[in-house]
Amino acid sequence: MRQVDLNLEVPYSVRIGHGILHEISLPHRKVAVLADGAVAETYGNTVAVALSAGGSDARVYSLPPGEDAKAVSVYEGLLSTLARDGLTRDSAVVSVGGGAASDLAGFVAATYLRGIAFYTVPTTLLAMVDAAVGGKTGVNLPEGKNLAGAFHQPRGVWADLDTLATLPDRVFREGTAEVFKHGLLANPGICRDVLAPLFGPNYPGLEATVEAAVRVKAEVVARDPFEKGERAYLNFGHTLAHAFEAFTHREIPHGEAVAYGMHYAAHLSYLEGGTDLSNLTRAFLTYQRPRPLPPLDLADLLPYMARDKKADDEGLRFVLLRGMAQPYLARVGADTIERAWTAFQKDLPALAAEAVG
Ligand code: GLY
Repeated sequence: MRQVDLNLEVPYSVRIGHGILHEISLPHRKVAVLADGAVAETYGNTVAVALSAGGSDARVYSLPPGEDAKAVSVYEGLLSTLARDGLTRDSAVVSVGGGAASDLAGFVAATYLRGIAFYTVPTTLLAMVDAAVGGKTGVNLPEGKNLAGAFHQPRGVWADLDTLATLPDRVFREGTAEVFKHGLLANPGICRDVLAPLFGPNYPGLEATVEAAVRVKAEVVARDPFEKGERAYLNFGHTLAHAFEAFTHREIPHGEAVAYGMHYAAHLSYLEGGTDLSNLTRAFLTYQRPRPLPPLDLADLLPYMARDKKADDEGLRFVLLRGMAQPYLARVGADTIERAWTAFQKDLPALAAEAVG
């Protein structure tokens, strides 16, 4: 097992290994295990059994699968359920599932009785290296993703790599977008791993790759827990990605939207004077094989991009790369946004052909 420590005011550890779900034990009498409906009967129950063996009174609550868990109605229903079931300030919430499960469960934990203890058990790659680490929690509004939320750090994270072997191949590849992103932002070795021919749930070096990707996030979050500055770099590729997700009503899932968004951001970075990294982001798209994008105009996406949380009163801001592992935040002119879109769109037909072939 490997461990990455987050050196925050209240420090915590991310444990990464095989079979570690069975080892979970917590110092709380009552524990609500909020599990994605797709894994509630499997990993949710495994976690509850381990907690019960350690002396907790653990109960599994099944969430609507995926992003549907992040509806305000689900959040409200859970608060009432926890109140009826008698959870107190000494109780804890544990999330089991992907990023949506940890976002929702974290927001429940952040607000129930003004905040109770929270732990995460990510079962997708995307959640292991990103969503379940760092304390961003929230729900979606009809107007956009994550528009209501809170920072509420978990007190511990268990990333059991065995859970990845049961994911559909497409979901595993989707999650690699956030791993690759951490490579581009801070550690080129991670990008090499992801593009290695054998990379997958049974890749011999997977534990080390996940550890390296978590370490990138942990270091950024420790320096900037409330996103006053460099934490925004973790948003690389996300301005366009969130617009793709919203415009397609999430037909393009997050990790695939991020893969496209990183490629666009690479074009933008080059036009702003950076090294051309678009061959690398293109190679990643070839590996990931995201769903093809529907026919889109930039004008369709700009209203969604304007809701990006990095936008301020003066307009849009993007995370760009001067070169490998050299991120910065910049305002980009409308003309450059358009030129990068043209360059990005030119790559799409060949990518679609590769995805089919
Ligand atoms: N997912 C980006 C962050 O946690 O800041």
